[in-house]
Amino acid sequence: MNTRMRRTAMAVAASALAVSLAACGSAAESGDKDKDSGDSAAKGDNIKVGLLLPENQTARYEKFDKPLIEKKIKELTNNKGEVIYANAKQDASQQNQQVDTMVTNKVDVLILDAVDAKAIAGSVKKAKEAGIPVVAYDRLAEGPIDAYTSFDNVTVGKTQGEALLEALGDKAEKGQIVMMNGSSTDPNAAQFKKGAHEALDGKVKVGREYDTKEWKPENANANMEGAISAIGKDKIVGVYSANDGMAGGIITALKAAGIKVPVTGQDAELAGVQRIVTGEQFMSVYKPYAPEADAAAEMAVALAQGKSLDSIAKDTVDSATTKGVPSVLVPVVSLTQENINDTVIKDGVYTVEEICTGKYKAACDKIGLK
Ligand code: BGC
Repeated sequence: MNTRMRRTAMAVAASALAVSLAACGSAAESGDKDKDSGDSAAKGDNIKVGLLLPENQTARYEKFDKPLIEKKIKELTNNKGEVIYANAKQDASQQNQQVDTMVTNKVDVLILDAVDAKAIAGSVKKAKEAGIPVVAYDRLAEGPIDAYTSFDNVTVGKTQGEALLEALGDKAEKGQIVMMNGSSTDPNAAQFKKGAHEALDGKVKVGREYDTKEWKPENANANMEGAISAIGKDKIVGVYSANDGMAGGIITALKAAGIKVPVTGQDAELAGVQRIVTGEQFMSVYKPYAPEADAAAEMAVALAQGKSLDSIAKDTVDSATTKGVPSVLVPVVSLTQENINDTVIKDGVYTVEEICTGKYKAACDKIGLK
């Protein structure tokens, strides 16, 4: 959508809002206490935000994204905003139903992290037609979304690829790597893969490459076992894993075969950071979730209140269906043994005590993490 079309769409949405506010006004006059009052300032804080996350196996969603978004919505609405939450547990059709239910229940705005960016487009359209704006969260959902927040996901993949090359050194020319990408229904996975290939292609031979169904660690584990028998355990010099959850499954397969090589990751999950401490995993990508969650909450509240996003969203991105979507893209950091202190600990994501539990104490001492 170009800017002019967006303005038109916003004007249409704004006049739809005016109509519904006028309707509410008369409802309030006739004593209907269940409806919001027609006063837009009063309505301003009494908003219902539908939050839809894609899965609950990767730790970030329940541990960081959900509580951070809820907290920020409360903060921005004097504790009056309500968040209605649904997790799709990797089921794209269930997520369509979850969106449809929220539209029926007349939430004021949606924050949506899609299981399947294409499959959700129809539901996004229904929300839009019902006058409910949609903020795409982390994954760029298709359909007429109003805003987007994420990280620069090509850079995430590039960061992983570059770190792997650095860990490989001379070995890059002497062996092969395995690439374990994320789910093909997730547009981020394609971007991570693109960035990783930009860094790795021509520098190291990719012996086997997989798109991992539903991002599941057990699928990554099975694929890794397949790669080991296809390539041969002595030829594998490293593994590109798109996230920490899969790195866990991959490292289990490597260990069972007696292989110790650098493995990448993403998300700075506690288990991933602990594997970095022990040296089982080489790196992760630290994506600060608070700024991403805050941006989603700020844009959702602004949209629900009919305010402009200009002071929040400085970038724009294009999806396959929608052009010029106002966006906030948060920078990322490569996380290795050297900068655990300056990243996840400094930002209060984990304490040293959480990372350095009994089993990890000696390894923590060794790298000076106290
Ligand atoms: C997210 C990653 C996450 C993965 C699996 C991606 O879209 O950006 O942080 O590890 O999905 O849920």
